Amino acid sequence: MKNLLIVVHSQSGKTASMAEAVLRGATRSGDGEVKAKLLFAAQAGPSDLIRSDAVIFATPENFGYLSGAMKDLLDRIFYPCQGRLEGMPYAVVIGAGNDGRGALKALRRIVRGLALHEVQEAIICRGALEAEMIERCEELGETMSAGLAMGVF
Ligand SMILES: Cc1cc2nc3c(=O)[nH]c(=O)nc-3n(C[C@H](O)[C@H](O)[C@H](O)COP(=O)(O)O)c2cc1C
Repeated sequence: MKNLLIVVHSQSGKTASMAEAVLRGATRSGDGEVKAKLLFAAQAGPSDLIRSDAVIFATPENFGYLSGAMKDLLDRIFYPCQGRLEGMPYAVVIGAGNDGRGALKALRRIVRGLALHEVQEAIICRGALEAEMIERCEELGETMSAGLAMGVF
């Protein structure tokens, strides 16, 4: 059994809806060989990452950067996870107002220090969350789960 972790922070619920769509997609894919779990960043810790085979970070962009709660998670896990997540596949989902690139850049820079490996195109939702974006998030979950089950990452 492989474990796929989705960690999210969200204030209005938009990024949480995106993360839930990722979870739905992941749950219906993976041939029963992947267990997908969604945790809020504030509730997650180093052991959640260490136990996982892949991770999807879902964060809003706040002030051109990750949300504080997602940054706090990365601050807390960094030393305990250093050297223990090398090569772990990851993907990123961002809820933004009109940009999102600052959060993406910051997240990539931080997880480079943990040697994670980005395996899917990042999803950035600018403005209102439309059905098409929800579908993209579900597809991301499906692809991550299927990839884990088939051992392609
Ligand atoms: C404090 C704060 C700062 C923000 N800064 C940015 C920003 O720099 N760039 C951007 O595109 N959107 C920015 N936004 C808009 C949020 O990214 C957007 O509303 C997002 O959908 C929030 O997701 P959430 O409700 O799931 O937390 C900001 C929102 C807040 C509350």
